[in-house]
Formats: sequence, structure tokens, C-alpha cells
Amino acid sequence: MASKKPVQVIAVTSGKGGVGKTNVSVNLSLAMVAAGQNVLLLDADLGLANVDLLLGLRAEKNLSHVISGERTLEEVIIKTPQGLNIIPAASGMQMMSELDPAQHAGVIRAFSDLSLSVDALVIDTAAGISDGVVSFVKASNEVVVVVCNEPTSLTDAYALIKVMSEDHGVYKFNILANSVRDPLEGVKLFKKLTRVTDHYLDVTLNFMGAVPYDEYLVKAVKKQQAVMQSYPQSPSSIAFRKLAKTAISWKLPQSASGHLEFFVERLIKFSAAG
Ligand SMILES: Nc1ncnc2c1ncn2[C@@H]1O[C@H](COP(=O)(O)OP(=O)(O)OP(=O)(O)O)[C@@H](O)[C@H]1O
Ligand SMILES: [Mg+2]
Repeated sequence: MASKKPVQVIAVTSGKGGVGKTNVSVNLSLAMVAAGQNVLLLDADLGLANVDLLLGLRAEKNLSHVISGERTLEEVIIKTPQGLNIIPAASGMQMMSELDPAQHAGVIRAFSDLSLSVDALVIDTAAGISDGVVSFVKASNEVVVVVCNEPTSLTDAYALIKVMSEDHGVYKFNILANSVRDPLEGVKLFKKLTRVTDHYLDVTLNFMGAVPYDEYLVKAVKKQQAVMQSYPQSPSSIAFRKLAKTAISWKLPQSASGHLEFFVERLIKFSAAG
């Protein structure tokens, strides 16, 4: 069965809002698709700047309709012309903690019945450290923390890393510097963050790379398109392709728990735990 293989589950988070999570999630996913991966992008943010909005798509149905049994998972997935599969945002994301056992089983079955082949599941999380964000991060295999050169971005990233490590047993984070003005700025941000985490926390931070500040990305957002789509040769698109290579090189979960339906099982378990 297609879903019975390890899936790389990557949560994109930041602590602070507006630093570029959705753009990173969408463009990283598109770059991974361009590199030959089968990618499923889960929009786990109920905010306004949704994945479907960024891509100019209109989602009619979402995960809540899968939970209620009205639709199969395949029916709610939107496939972009590039071949990226998207599960639209749903109030179902919040309902995860309120599911009865039959609904739990239904959601897990929906994922294990998915005949779509998936190499990676990328999750665009909401800003902040809500219970929802925590459970997505905990259920993932790799966590990408997006930071940018604003004082509150680093402090919010630090707060997120502190809570995830001290309260939830997540110790490994990939730091992605977004909107950098020069190539050194990303490394500097990373060093600034590790100086504090090395001192106060028991965590491992890995520098994933940087995405430059890019007017083309802003232009693309205005057109409701991903920069990877409309300006594939722009500086940020080049950076996203490099980041995709890095993400593809990450080790896949080896145990049975690395399969897609187990991700959903963990997600439900962590949601219920709050
Ligand atoms: N590399 C970049 N270069 C230029 N502008 C950028 C870049 N990344 C993000 N932006 C700007 O920041 C805005 C917010 O980005 P995005 O919606 O991806 O952030 P977010 O973290 O998902 O926000 P939220 O917390 O609201 O979900 C974009 O619309 C764009 O204008
Ligand atoms: Mg967003």
C-alpha cells in the first residue's frame, strides 16, 4: 500500500507571526516537488493568510469533512498544476482534541487508506505556541523554525524552543533565516540564537539556510501565487531549491512509527493530552 512507507513529516513554525511560515511551507514544498518528491502540504493555520489564499485556490472541503465522514481524504486534497497536494485548513484542526474514538479511528483510516504516494508531509502551522501548534510540532519528525531579523522574532523563537524542549521533549530544531539582506545575516541570526539556547537549554539547533529578502516574493504574494511558480529564477526561488535539497537529505524515520497514519495517531494523542 502506498502509504505504508516512511514519510518525512516537517512542521514549519516560528513563534512570531508574519515571518514567512506560509511562504516557506508553500515554496519549500513546490521546490521539493520540482526535485521529484511527492509532497503533501497540510495547512494547519486557521488564520487569514492561508495556503489556498496564497496560491489563489478555493477550497470547498477540508479535513473537518473527512472527520465527519462526508468526504474521503482524497476528495478534499487539492492538486496544484505543479503536482503539489494540499490539505486545506479546517476548523477540524481544532476539533482534533474533541474527537470520539470512532472519529479518531475514522481519521486514522482516512490517512492509511490514502492511495496517494507521499514522501514528505509539510505542515504550515499557526503563529504562537497554542496547543494545536505544539501537537503538530510534537507529531513531526523535523521542525523548521523560521526567524527573521527582528528582535521579537528571535525572542519568540527562543520561547517556542524552550517550551517545546522543556515541556514536550522536542530537542532538535532546524533554523531557517528568512528575509535576510545579505548572505551573512542568516548565519549571524543563527549564532545569536544558539548563544542563548546553548547557555540555557538542552537543545540542538541546526542551521538550515537562509532566504533573501526578495521583491519578487512580495510581487508573487500580491498576484496570489507562489514565488516558485511566478518567478522561478528569483533570488528567493533559488534559495528555496537549495533548502529543498537539504530537506530531502534529512534522514527518514526508520521505525514503523514513521508512516503517515502513525503521524495522525500521534497528532490525535498529543491533541488530547493538550
Ligand atoms: N523572503 C521574503 N522576502 C520579502 N518579503 C517576504 C519574504 N518572506 C515573507 N515576506 C513578506 O511577509 C509576508 C508574510 O509572509 P507569510 O504569510 O508567509 O508569513 P507567516 O509567518 O505565514 O504569517 P502568519 O503568522 O500570519 O501565518 C508576505 O506576504 C511577504 O510580504
Ligand atoms: Mg501563515
